[in-house]
Amino acid sequence: MSSRIAVIGSGYVGLTTAACFAHLGHTVVCTDIDEARIARLNDGEVPILEAGLDNLLHEGRLGGRLRFVVGNAEAAASSEFVYLCVPTPQGDDGSADLSFIEAAAAEIGPVLAPEAVVINKSTVPVGSTRVVERVLGRSDVHVVSNPEFLREGSAVHDFLNPDRIVIGSDDQAAAVRVASLYIGIATPLIVTDPASAETIKYAANAFLATKISFVNAIAAVCEAVGADMSDVVLGMGYDKRIGHEFLRPGPGWGGSCFPKDSRALVRIAENAGYDFGLLKGVISVNTEQFERVAEKAVELAGGSVDGVRLAVWGLTFKARTDDLRDSPSLSVISRLRAMGARIQAYDPSIEPPVTDRRLALLEGIDLASDPYAACEGAAVLLVLTEWDEFRWLDFDKVGDAMAARRVVDGRNLLDRESLRRRHFTYSGVGRR
Ligand code: UDX
Repeated sequence: MSSRIAVIGSGYVGLTTAACFAHLGHTVVCTDIDEARIARLNDGEVPILEAGLDNLLHEGRLGGRLRFVVGNAEAAASSEFVYLCVPTPQGDDGSADLSFIEAAAAEIGPVLAPEAVVINKSTVPVGSTRVVERVLGRSDVHVVSNPEFLREGSAVHDFLNPDRIVIGSDDQAAAVRVASLYIGIATPLIVTDPASAETIKYAANAFLATKISFVNAIAAVCEAVGADMSDVVLGMGYDKRIGHEFLRPGPGWGGSCFPKDSRALVRIAENAGYDFGLLKGVISVNTEQFERVAEKAVELAGGSVDGVRLAVWGLTFKARTDDLRDSPSLSVISRLRAMGARIQAYDPSIEPPVTDRRLALLEGIDLASDPYAACEGAAVLLVLTEWDEFRWLDFDKVGDAMAARRVVDGRNLLDRESLRRRHFTYSGVGRR
């Protein structure tokens, strides 16, 4: 059965939600306060790098099931379901800032049709469903939590092939209505109360961040005792209770979710009277990891990087996205710059010159237009994002461009033996 859905917010969560629901046969209108973005979307442009999204947006627009407008009220008034997919940035004290959600709720409250369902998809602090209910001020409208578990870069795949769907509602009928939107997707469905649904989202992200910090800490142990992290991870991962996923050591975790959500959960727990020491430890291991990777470059450079040219491959927080928010690569770079290093960087998703809002994040970094140019005269090369194409480059050409053949492989991405045959000094994470 086809439903009328409004999606408020056209970030990667909003756009993916809108495109996928249109793909499932619903009629979707997606909004944003950014007029230029809506104009681009209406022209068929896709403002983010997200695998498969352009096809679905095109399909939805062509089939007349998906349109983009400025104006939340107009979109909400004619819809049975309204998804809130607006940002919840980190406030000054680490807690999530709900002002975008509240503003959207205030705008749509007066115009919603009776029995409409408003759904929180943004990651919101436990108790936010109640906040939205209060701001809407409508006893005839239901508010439901339906958190997203979408990874950037594979958000479309994750939406259409989820490990589970979580719906938090005090009203069974509203929960069933939301579940029916996902008809055609075979996956476990968890229907619970709003606070539990909101907690599931934070707990899942915090657990995944814990896994990575744990692995990065074990990598430090491996380095100290002379073990090889790649084999250790393999040996751990075959235990079905542990699994192979999210055991890749690296320069630390980042992105638009883990850093923000882990700090928010510490704050949520604190406000509720629980000192979440474990999660605080997970966060500080992550900060240490930025330092540890920066320190590897200092060591390879001979003890100081002051005035030294360093090459960096990879700036985004992970591969297959163009997102620089809270990128571990940028955290490592800022530590090296503070020690006087001059950074020449290349990232496949960033073409110089950058003129958009990412410019501020890239301040002080010389952007190269190809990976070899980034290595010109560099004393050390750091690989900080796991773009697959880095593995297939001509490493003799790389070595010839550099002042010395030294590489810090912050993602354990490259073929260590082949580099050694080419006389590179190699330093990985948890492996020599
Ligand atoms: C994450 C969650 O996976 C998703 O379910 C949630 O809804 C949003 O946050 P995303 O931020 O897109 O998704 O990135 P993810 O693929 O989870 O990676 C997060 C960070 O961890 C990245 O910096 C990544 O490089 C790092 N990572 C991940 C590792 O260092 N090692 C791993 O094994 C996995």
